Amino acid sequence: MLNKHFPKGAKPLLLALAVSSSFAQADPLREILDENTLLIGSAMMTDHIAEKKFAEVLKTEFNLLTPENEMKWSYIQPQRGVYDFSKADKLVEFAEKNGMEVRGHALVWHIQNPEWLEEGEFTREELLEILEEHIKTVAGHYKGRIKYWDVVNEALDDAGGWRETIWYKGIGEEYIAKAFQWAHEADPDALLYYNDYSTEGTTPKANAAYRLVKQLQEQGVPIHGAGTQLHLISGDILRTANIAANIERHEELGLEYHFTEVDIRIQGEATDRSLAEQASMYEELMKLALHYEAVNVFTTWGLTDKYSWIPWWFNGWDHGLLLDKQYEPKPAYHAVQAQMELKRDGKFEWQPPVRIESDNRYVQAFVSPEAPKALSLNNDASVWADATFYPFAFNQLEGRDQRLPSDQEISGKFAVMYKGNTLYGRVEREDNITVNTAEPDYENDSVEVFLRSGKDEPFVQYRAIVGQDFGPQGYDATAKGVWHDDGKVFEFAITPNFVDTLAGKTWGFNIALSDNDKAGTEHGQRSSQLYPVTGTNSGYLGEDFAEIFFPGQNLEISAVPFENPYTFKAVEVQISGEPGSYKPMEWLNTYHYSFAFNQLDRRDMSPPAQSDLNGSWQVGYQGNVLYGVVHRHDDVTVTNHEHDYENDNVEVFLKVGEQFVQLRSIVGQDFQDSSFPGKRVAKWNDDGTVMSFAIELPLESLAGERIGFNIALADTDDVSTGRSAQLYPVPGTNAGYLGEELTVLDFVR
Ligand code: XIL
Repeated sequence: MLNKHFPKGAKPLLLALAVSSSFAQADPLREILDENTLLIGSAMMTDHIAEKKFAEVLKTEFNLLTPENEMKWSYIQPQRGVYDFSKADKLVEFAEKNGMEVRGHALVWHIQNPEWLEEGEFTREELLEILEEHIKTVAGHYKGRIKYWDVVNEALDDAGGWRETIWYKGIGEEYIAKAFQWAHEADPDALLYYNDYSTEGTTPKANAAYRLVKQLQEQGVPIHGAGTQLHLISGDILRTANIAANIERHEELGLEYHFTEVDIRIQGEATDRSLAEQASMYEELMKLALHYEAVNVFTTWGLTDKYSWIPWWFNGWDHGLLLDKQYEPKPAYHAVQAQMELKRDGKFEWQPPVRIESDNRYVQAFVSPEAPKALSLNNDASVWADATFYPFAFNQLEGRDQRLPSDQEISGKFAVMYKGNTLYGRVEREDNITVNTAEPDYENDSVEVFLRSGKDEPFVQYRAIVGQDFGPQGYDATAKGVWHDDGKVFEFAITPNFVDTLAGKTWGFNIALSDNDKAGTEHGQRSSQLYPVTGTNSGYLGEDFAEIFFPGQNLEISAVPFENPYTFKAVEVQISGEPGSYKPMEWLNTYHYSFAFNQLDRRDMSPPAQSDLNGSWQVGYQGNVLYGVVHRHDDVTVTNHEHDYENDNVEVFLKVGEQFVQLRSIVGQDFQDSSFPGKRVAKWNDDGTVMSFAIELPLESLAGERIGFNIALADTDDVSTGRSAQLYPVPGTNAGYLGEELTVLDFVR
């Protein structure tokens, strides 16, 4: 595995194919490492262990078990004061009989509660009594037999605020400290955990979870660690450096950190490729677990894909576990096993990657994965299957109006990869009229690539007119560009001679697609010059550079960005009338940007055809109010889906200091509630083509401020298949809801 930050998975597949798919060749997982180093766990129900094969594989491979459901309230206290331990007991007996530890799950949660509790009306005092009795009864029942307890599960919401659960609403945040206290009184030897999901990195929610356990510890509450669930998506980007940083800060508090519910789900069929991606993510998690002493539990949320919660909860997804539906080990199993063996044999040398400094760096710009081999520029599209295509997203020729032109006129996308010291690129372009014989050169249709090896280093601008190689440049590099398919495809290779490898470097980078339809007429000037970033078309002066990352195993990525490539600008506006009302005249001076990146497709972030969905946005400010307008053209508007986020909507993401919020407005509706301070309003016109908003921010005045920001346009066309696109003005993995991948909004004075 060479590619730590952005696992693409080619390697684990090869690895996996080399190993036969039977268990027999190597030790079962539980035999590889001693119990103090790492317990390897699984979750299950009593029905599952009644199946011979299941019980057999479970006890052979795992030395820890978590009852998947049968210690939850609805099972264990189905009627008030009536406890039913019959199922949970069976699992604990199974564990004891087979030398396994137990992670009890969970003493306090907001779902899978019995009806009497959900529907009853209780005073605060009554709720406290109910909770105390339950915890003491259950933890007391298993005194001395359960090593670890998830005492409180999922008390935080996605933005890191308190989740509005029955316990929080009825008792207040003190329910958490009390729950730990009571569990400790009932079983003083049990180790007690706070467990949650999306808490593994350094997002606002992860930070809130960390602060919670730290605060409990400071208050003298008996807490021994935190659990992070890790219900992940195959093909997602694991932010390994952030996960490492988070484990480290728990380790510094002397707390344990458990991986409690790992599964990595796949959409649709499990292909060689998705299984390989899954394996690389499992491998990465296992490396973290093996590297950090604090991580002494690694539990997968189930044993075999035959029995998994995934298809029930995530329509269309499955295949998340280490064993397939026939109990056969998957590539992920072998990947995990191989790492554990390295550890056993004293050959585990992995170090977590160095963290990308996030101060003043918001979206991580373009990523160049390492190519498996040196590439020939012969238009072999399959070579590019592992790279990410980014759209050309902003027209830098029209001053503040940076929107994309009509896709009937011009559109394009590019991908980059590196091998050694060569940067490879592929551009695909659709153009109605190609001009390549005009004078001067820059008025021809072309691709331009801008590179710079460091902030104060010389830069280069390579230009390849459609049909021609790069023009020569006085830069210490060899560069070659080749066109294919009548100007629809361009491939290039640039090899700077002054470095041995690009691995681990961050360089200045930009790429432009130039379009000129009117050459030779009196309007003979470029109609558009599209870049993947905002700017003023001054790349030729060495300005407006974006960044390109060349990740390599454990290699530091430069902590100093060239500049923030995605800085969106809000100018002062004079808004009159009702907040949220829209008068076009008041917006003439503002910057205007497209929703250009579809973050739902991690291989190709190009937006859908404009006839399907096309959107743009403008923002401005006055005092401490952020004003905005969203323009939207959508062929089918859906607002009746049961999940809010699968309705057509606009979301605004804001981070002011440590305060983060995601504000959602479904087409035709105001912003949904949130605890973010201040007033706000969103208004739609009748046909859903214009939404305008006003949001008071917790700052005195916005002039000169810079805040974390993003904005998204979600599109669903067919309720049964869910969202078809979620467009942002920047690339990313649709993790905005966690406060990740924000960009900067600059309130220009
Ligand atoms: C899930 C179980 O796997 C399902 O069988 C059940 O229907 C719902 O709960 N986070 C948790 C687990 O802490 O308890 C959940 O388990 C999955 C998400």
